[in-house]
Amino acid sequence: MRAVDIIQKKRDGQELSTEEISYLIQGYSRGDIPDYQMSAWAMAVFFQGMTAKETGDLTMAMAKSGDQVDLSPIAGIKVDKHSTGGVGDKTTIVLAPLVAAAGVPVAKMSGRGLGHTGGTLDKLESISGFQIELDQEQFFKQVNEVGAAVIGQSGNMAPADKKLYALRDVTATVNAIPLIASSVMSKKIAAGADAIVLDVKTGSGAFMKTLDDSIKLAEAMVDIGTHVGRETVAVISDMDQPLGHGIGNALEIKEAVETLQGNGPEDLEEVSLFLASHMLVLGGKAESVEEAREKLRDILSQGLAFDKLKQMVKAQQGDVGQIEDLSLLPTAKRTIEVKAPTDGYVAGIEAEAIGISAMLLGAGRETTDSVIDHAVGVTLVKKVGDQVKAGEVIAMLHANDGSDSKLQEAEQKLQQAYKISEAPVPEQPLIYALVTKDGVQRFV
Ligand code: URA
Repeated sequence: MRAVDIIQKKRDGQELSTEEISYLIQGYSRGDIPDYQMSAWAMAVFFQGMTAKETGDLTMAMAKSGDQVDLSPIAGIKVDKHSTGGVGDKTTIVLAPLVAAAGVPVAKMSGRGLGHTGGTLDKLESISGFQIELDQEQFFKQVNEVGAAVIGQSGNMAPADKKLYALRDVTATVNAIPLIASSVMSKKIAAGADAIVLDVKTGSGAFMKTLDDSIKLAEAMVDIGTHVGRETVAVISDMDQPLGHGIGNALEIKEAVETLQGNGPEDLEEVSLFLASHMLVLGGKAESVEEAREKLRDILSQGLAFDKLKQMVKAQQGDVGQIEDLSLLPTAKRTIEVKAPTDGYVAGIEAEAIGISAMLLGAGRETTDSVIDHAVGVTLVKKVGDQVKAGEVIAMLHANDGSDSKLQEAEQKLQQAYKISEAPVPEQPLIYALVTKDGVQRFV
């Protein structure tokens, strides 16, 4: 077999065989197939697409390229959750204790943030002492005893995807549905859960800008999961503006805790309940999403999910005092108000610009070795649909001693992210659709 023939076949729109795909992935992983051939192949896929069979084969070839976690020492049906990336998305920190409190074990491996999107691990490390590196035995023990653990992903999970993703990033081939679907699902399959709930973001701040593309991506991922015996459902949720009000590590922990205490932002609570309901159904703890939602509401109102978070933080050596008294979390030295330039209504808040603004303050990484400042970030005081008066505070920057030019840039980005219109803005949908193996249910 030769890589050039496989590239040509894909360039001409033909379906690749399982053997051809595995030859490419194995050869690329070993370093036998060079970046330039893999780039040409990725570009051919970008234009020609892949069949469901090819996408499944690519997923499995990448999943098998490294460690595959066996979660069988953990009792019960393990349900994983994955978001395709958003700004202000702290749902994992709400979901892990919430779903665990309902009896579904959560053995979650998460990542760090890069660029304008935050990472769950960085957020959790805002809590002093919180350990994200547990060995497998400790990880299993904690999930069996507490019900939930959130740890860092093994360094050798789907390494072929890691290499290919880095290549796609610099060859303008990230936004190809079969490549995104196989990339996400290879890691989820390697992580070992029995069932998967995906939160596919749609809108200006997401990979997929339109609902139709988001549904296609969701269908591709649900198809892959279903074919390999991991029941998968995908929720399409809004990323036309960030989720919740806080963007930045400690600010997001605070908001997640408030949500677990029953007084978080409405959008974060709703997305969390929607995802959690599906996790409960897949985990066999509810017959229907309606029953699941009722259970989850009870759990929240009795404070059981917040108790579960405290148990999880304690087990991972974090300072529980900081989540009992949120003022003890890292806090920035200065807050800078950003004001509305005119009267009107907030018509949009560009999620990516908000993420960049928080990153410039030090909440995220510009490069993989940047050091994070857990205290800094952005608070969105006004959200889409809100009426504003000229000079009224619409957002706040939380800053420490960084460079003045970066602070100015962050302020500018934040200001520019807000679109103000003269006319009132209709309410934005939060959940657009649900994709399961049985089809697509649209809510708008
Ligand atoms: N997230 C991933 O893990 N892979 C992609 O290709 C895109 C988003």
